Amino acid sequence: MKNLLDILSEKLGEAFEKAGYDRNLGRVTISNRPDLCEYQCNGAMAGAKQYKCAPIVIAQAVADLLKEDETFSEIAAVNPGFINIKIKDEFLSKHIEAMAGDEKLGVELSGGKTAVIDYGGANVAKPLHVGHLRSAIIGETIKRLKRFKGDTVIGDVHLGDWGLQMGLIIEQLRCEQPDLVYFDESFMGEYPDTPPFTLSELEQIYPKASARSKEDDDFKEKAQTATLEMQKGKRGYRAIWKHILDVSIPDLKKNYDNMKVEFELWKGESSAEEFIAPMVEDMINNGYAHESQGAIVVDVKEESDQKEIPPCIIKKSDGASLYATSDLATIIQRKKDYNPDEIIYVADKRQEMHFTQVFRTAKKTKIVDDSIDFSFLGFGTMNGRDGKPFKTRDGGVMRLETLISDINKAVYDKMMENREMDEAEALEISKTVGLSALKYGDLSNQASKDYVFDLERFTSFEGDTGPYILYTIVRIKAILRKYEETGKSTEGLSLNRTLTPAEKQLMLELSKFSSMIDAAYCELAPHKICAYIYDLANVFNSFYHENKIMTEEDADKQAGFIALLLIAKKALEISIEILGFDAPDRM
Ligand code: ARG
Repeated sequence: MKNLLDILSEKLGEAFEKAGYDRNLGRVTISNRPDLCEYQCNGAMAGAKQYKCAPIVIAQAVADLLKEDETFSEIAAVNPGFINIKIKDEFLSKHIEAMAGDEKLGVELSGGKTAVIDYGGANVAKPLHVGHLRSAIIGETIKRLKRFKGDTVIGDVHLGDWGLQMGLIIEQLRCEQPDLVYFDESFMGEYPDTPPFTLSELEQIYPKASARSKEDDDFKEKAQTATLEMQKGKRGYRAIWKHILDVSIPDLKKNYDNMKVEFELWKGESSAEEFIAPMVEDMINNGYAHESQGAIVVDVKEESDQKEIPPCIIKKSDGASLYATSDLATIIQRKKDYNPDEIIYVADKRQEMHFTQVFRTAKKTKIVDDSIDFSFLGFGTMNGRDGKPFKTRDGGVMRLETLISDINKAVYDKMMENREMDEAEALEISKTVGLSALKYGDLSNQASKDYVFDLERFTSFEGDTGPYILYTIVRIKAILRKYEETGKSTEGLSLNRTLTPAEKQLMLELSKFSSMIDAAYCELAPHKICAYIYDLANVFNSFYHENKIMTEEDADKQAGFIALLLIAKKALEISIEILGFDAPDRM
């Protein structure tokens, strides 16, 4: 359905045309002087030059034509040539009612594109830490937003499972347990099913190996060789690789589950391995790739480049494939499996150069044609209060599990501050509210910007926070419950036709829902949803304070309030569902 601004613009456009001017001048916007009017049209100002007359003359002619229109309660030409607009209560309330009758509150479907979203990006063998938090949170929201608009979306976690960290673990394991059968070159039998390490052992192996490789060149070289041999298919190493995945993946799943982040595909860098050899051969045979200092590279710089874009390295001189190689092979695989219209990557913005190289290489080497869109949604760093990347108190990398339990604890303490609640229920609710604090705290910032993780602020029940949004929904739910307890039904109610000021304000805010969703969708910008629901919650809360809903004596008027509450609740609930968290029934 059409959004309110488009409906108003059309009316104004018609009037401009009738008065003898270009109808495109009729564009209506939300007023930047809410003290004077609700909407405005500045078309007469723009048209003055073109028609060589004073803007006020045009504005007056247009306003005169619309004086009797049932849409406007006020339409006035004011000097030097603005048109100030207020709309009639009845017109607005009918519009909001139509919106409420639509399952998606008036949001139109996109036309059904197919997209693959590559997000999460955890590396196996390392515990999920805060560095991967943003990719999971933002990617999940983009996926839900696109689905809401009617796209088919496949989310792929794209695990880091093919790089040097694998060789490091193999070498470290060899030092610690040299007698393991995986290192016996003459062994020809079946390898054991049980892994030679537990999850917590594995989580210790990697940091040890990584620290060592920074000091011990010989060790690092061995790890590189082991990585290459694993990639080439050495049996014992592939068996260790498989154990690493088997031990890591269930734990990653559990962690993502706790954050309501769900992937359709659990593929990794390794999954497209079979496509690498033919891809490289093709690139060489078609003259796209060439040798440079022993490595195989594709030149991707373009004349219009403002900065140096180095060639994309496809194979190192020792024959090992790189991060870009597996990303390119994965594009081949995704095209084959899903033939998507677009692929969206959600990763740290410091990987921008990598993705520029990969996207250009994919197009230049004709892995894909121009019909496929690549987007890179690069996000900034989550910093601590000191402005440096977030760390534990002793300076280590913080596990996601720890961060989440800290947040839940803070929420729990706040909830229990001045009231009593059943312990088990409070713990359950604090998880739901905690997740909103974490996700909203992240998503309310423009993705590309760094932000400061501030536990106190994020978990506050007031201000621009997830808990405040949930608190507002809980308040609405409580009123609805009370209303039903008086024996009245919340079904089939009509909105009021004569509105109190705060009631009208709430409807005006609700009318922005579909254009807000469209903007967030087109720009891949979840922060627009957060900004909107924060405004909506504020407007709702003023409405709540200015109108005594439960004590309203006029039953029809009260029913109208309740009808409006239901729509506000729906707009908030759809929004938080897209943002990836839920509201409890009480908190
Ligand atoms: N595993 C990578 C990392 O930890 C992120 C993966 C992003 N996706 C991709 N297709 N390269 O940085």
